[in-house]
Amino acid sequence: MAVRIAGIGTSLPPDVLTNHDLAQMMDTNDEWIRERAGITSRHIGGLTSEMGIEAGNNALKSADLTPDDIDLLVLSTSSPDQRFPGTSAQIHAGIGLDCGAFDVNAACAGFAYGYVAAYGMMMLPGGPTRVLNVGSDALSTLVDWDDRGTAILFGDGAGACVMERHEQGELLAFDLGADGNLAPILYCEHGDTIKMAGREVFKRAVRAVTASIKSALKQAGLTPDDIDVVLLHQANLRIIEAVCARTSIPMSKTHNVIETTGNTSTATIPLAMEQAALNGVLEPGKVVVMSGFGAGMTWATLVVRW
Ligand code: UT7
Repeated sequence: MAVRIAGIGTSLPPDVLTNHDLAQMMDTNDEWIRERAGITSRHIGGLTSEMGIEAGNNALKSADLTPDDIDLLVLSTSSPDQRFPGTSAQIHAGIGLDCGAFDVNAACAGFAYGYVAAYGMMMLPGGPTRVLNVGSDALSTLVDWDDRGTAILFGDGAGACVMERHEQGELLAFDLGADGNLAPILYCEHGDTIKMAGREVFKRAVRAVTASIKSALKQAGLTPDDIDVVLLHQANLRIIEAVCARTSIPMSKTHNVIETTGNTSTATIPLAMEQAALNGVLEPGKVVVMSGFGAGMTWATLVVRW
């Protein structure tokens, strides 16, 4: 028994904040942000539940399914609408699902963590046949607009995929990791804004993602040459370039959206996945590597045969 991705959907709020807009608000400029992060603009003004509902509905549409076809909802987010209930409950109601639903918080690695959790449940006797795996974050609501170290980086967005038991598609390997000792380099207290030691996160992220991809490829018995498509967490284009250089994966295999979305946390991998689908590279049999990292620190890599 295997699992394929039967449909992909995304959501970005309509309001766009450009680097030029940011330069009016703080001491920064378009050239610096593009060179240091690879970002030109980002969408803001989203609500985690609303974006999750739209992305989920779009994924159902792309899979040609109805809410009744879904047996489980997994939402990854670190910006829930409320402390409780989980925002998965709001998305559940908004889409009109009739199944179990729960939240995962693994920050920017959430979507990949959610994928592995869902996959494991699908393997259980009587487990779900189809899971809606949604990643949605509205980090613009948590940004300190006086802090140029974070405000230039984050945006809002959501992405979702329908995971379906099918003979086509396979999870060849995965690698999940965390180091709670690194919580102080990226965190957000209740009622406060995001605090980030950017340079330190950058360094740790490159190391963690490189090691995680190498470990997952080893488990799968694959080499970088076997990989067709790479979907990396869209935190900073320079991190993507550094990881590619260290894993000997050509940048041409990556599919990126960061330029116009910024860092949308757990939503970046499904947003990049939709971009890869639009680019026509997600064909059955292709080997796709997805890897995310974020606060915790957490990191997660999936090696999937499409
Ligand atoms: O998804 C969650 C994980 N988060 C991340 O992955 C973020 C990882 N970190 C980063 O992406 C980068 O560290 C940033 C984009 C946040 C910052 O880039 P950096 O190249 O690490 O810059 P820096 O903090 O080392 O600062 C370099 C210089 C400094 O000036 P001096 O001391 O060299 O004169 C900063 O004051 O750039 C200055 N600077 C800025 N200048 C214009 C820092 N931020 C800005 C800014 N605009 N926004």
